[in-house]
Amino acid sequence: MNLPKRYLITSALPYANGLKHVGHLAGAYIPADIYVRYLRAQKRDVVYVGGSDEHGAAITIQAMKEGTTPQAIVDKYHEIIKRNFKDLGISFDIYHRTSAEIHHETAQEFFTALNERGELEQQETEQFYDEEAKSFLADRYIVGTCPVCAHNNAFGDQCEKCGTSLSPELLINPRSTLSGNAPIKKTTTHWYLPLNKHEDFLREWILQEHKDDWKTNVLGQCKSWLDAGLQPRAVTRDLDWGIKVPLADAAGKVLYVWFDAPIGYISATKQWAIDNGKQWEPYWYDKETSLVHFIGKDNIVFHSIIFPVMLKLHGNVLPTNVPANEFMNLEGDKMSTSRGWSIEMDEYIDDWIKKENGGESMADVLRYYLTTISPETKDSEFTWKGFQDAGNSELGNIFGNFVNRAFVLMHKLCKGKVPPLHSEILDDGDRKMFFEIATAKSTIENLIETFKFREALFEVIDLSRKGNRYMQDKQPWIVAKQTTDEGQPTTAAQMQIDNCLHVCLQLTANLAILINPFLPFTAKKLCYMMKVVDKMLDWENAGKSKLLSVGYSLREPQILFRKIEDAEIAEQIEKLKIKSKKVEESKNKDAGSQTPAASSQGNESTSGQLEIGDGQPVTTTKPEIVFDDFAKIDLRVGTIVSAEKVQKADKLLKLQIDLGFETRTVVSGIAMHFQPEEIVGKQVTVVVNLAPRKMRGIESNGMILMAEDAAGKLHFLNPEQNIEAGSAVS
Ligand code: 2FM
Ligand code: ZN
Repeated sequence: MNLPKRYLITSALPYANGLKHVGHLAGAYIPADIYVRYLRAQKRDVVYVGGSDEHGAAITIQAMKEGTTPQAIVDKYHEIIKRNFKDLGISFDIYHRTSAEIHHETAQEFFTALNERGELEQQETEQFYDEEAKSFLADRYIVGTCPVCAHNNAFGDQCEKCGTSLSPELLINPRSTLSGNAPIKKTTTHWYLPLNKHEDFLREWILQEHKDDWKTNVLGQCKSWLDAGLQPRAVTRDLDWGIKVPLADAAGKVLYVWFDAPIGYISATKQWAIDNGKQWEPYWYDKETSLVHFIGKDNIVFHSIIFPVMLKLHGNVLPTNVPANEFMNLEGDKMSTSRGWSIEMDEYIDDWIKKENGGESMADVLRYYLTTISPETKDSEFTWKGFQDAGNSELGNIFGNFVNRAFVLMHKLCKGKVPPLHSEILDDGDRKMFFEIATAKSTIENLIETFKFREALFEVIDLSRKGNRYMQDKQPWIVAKQTTDEGQPTTAAQMQIDNCLHVCLQLTANLAILINPFLPFTAKKLCYMMKVVDKMLDWENAGKSKLLSVGYSLREPQILFRKIEDAEIAEQIEKLKIKSKKVEESKNKDAGSQTPAASSQGNESTSGQLEIGDGQPVTTTKPEIVFDDFAKIDLRVGTIVSAEKVQKADKLLKLQIDLGFETRTVVSGIAMHFQPEEIVGKQVTVVVNLAPRKMRGIESNGMILMAEDAAGKLHFLNPEQNIEAGSAVS
């Protein structure tokens, strides 16, 4: 394998407009951190850059909401988010900011270079304008009546009541949130990146060159964009807040936030180089660099289509991979800070890490759980119960228990020292354990190198599970009962005990190396217990069976993972409910106010309709599946026998559906579209083998299928005439 000469690893720059939740952490930060820690342990040349995205409407709108300036907003949230990442062990080499001078200069130079090479096009367009505020209006600065549900405070890009994606032109009676007046259309000039000219290159580069090494969710999304046809994309905006367009005839214009933000990766590298006496250029110009962007799925188009075109035109390296993750839901619903249905990193740190001595191990429990449910191939779900099980059962009872038993027994039966290995009595069980240690390394290595972190972590835990089994087979505490007249184990018994604990301790040292990229605080604690320096964690040491010297005395064991109590979990679930209720109440109170909502981001946008450029919707399809995937879905015709509203849930109806063989409860989000009484007796297509899911305390056993037209109206998918309930749909 030809290894890259150096690695430049990036995690999406979060908007510094509010707290970030654990879904963000799982999407773009923990996977990157695992990869980077692994590369560092391999002694490869790697720089991991991150930082705050401090421009765009996400910031100015939050400033309006908090009644302060955009600068105050970014100053506040940059510090909090940076600190949160540190507390959770995300090991950036630099956590930079796009408000930094070096970033403004870098982004302006980038724009100038592309413009001077004739790669940008100037175009005149008509956009909404507020005459009183003397300002062009970005989508979220326009409200009006929703054409679908008649909610009179729908935003220019989305109706928060019915969830329909909109564009400002679709609103009835649009008005500006700045003055409340009806906006006019006004001509303005902008600079465009003609993506359409680069389609052939993108097709070849993504769909051919990377067809085997990029994830299918990423390839699928790229293919949809390319098949829909790319349009020129505006890279400037009429706004005050942002990076000035470096041209004499562009007063009042700034670079579009999605033009400047990814350039933030370059300016961060420059700053890192200055701070560390290094050269930044090779990381961005030398073809032997491996550039990897870790992101969430809503950022795919920017990192695999738009930014690569910019990089190519500017003469930089292109990303070698963009391992985007899908989204993480929370307790049966979409994770969303704005709806209060989320666990903020800051909140988790306060509740679990800062509260107790040695609380860092709880950072590792979160890292562990988020990795085991990482949405690598499809959306996944965080539940507090799952978190408790992961911490108590897998980490505590398997990994932690193995290490603890090895240490306790070594202190009890081997005088606190690493016992010798008596090769003359080595048996198949010992040899098998050494073999497992040696082979785990390459298995885990291959999985990490191909971004399969969930499986890689499973292998590490599995190795400790094998350690437990080995110890259980050997039962040194029973062997120790074969004693001499003086009550000491016989020589033969002691030799068996020595061998077992020797193997277990070498395995513990290996586990420390293998777990280090995933759970760095735990690896550190293990090093402390084994009295070894961090250098032992170098990846080249993994697989070795002589890491701890015979006769070396080790410390007393420490508890690696404390028990997570039922009461703590109940408290968190209650807290979540209270938080979301509070947010709902304050939203109801604010209804009618004209403060635009912060732009949705991260886990908050999941529709298949993505917006490219200035409100040009492009329909995307999901990645291709094979017939066997489809065949797993059991679709039946059912008849709705009753329907009722779910209390305190505007969108949900509780349905009883006759499926012929049984009547089922299905909770469906169609309450904004149909009155309960009008759908009783209707036939629907039902997914009957979907795992049960609790919504507002009601267990839903299946899902009904609906079609949504362009205006967002829902239509039943039912047979032309009523047929027998339970009939299969295929
Ligand atoms: O979606 C977001 O939160 C963006 N702030 C991500 C930017 S990533 C990069 F381009 F900087
Ligand atoms: Zn609506």
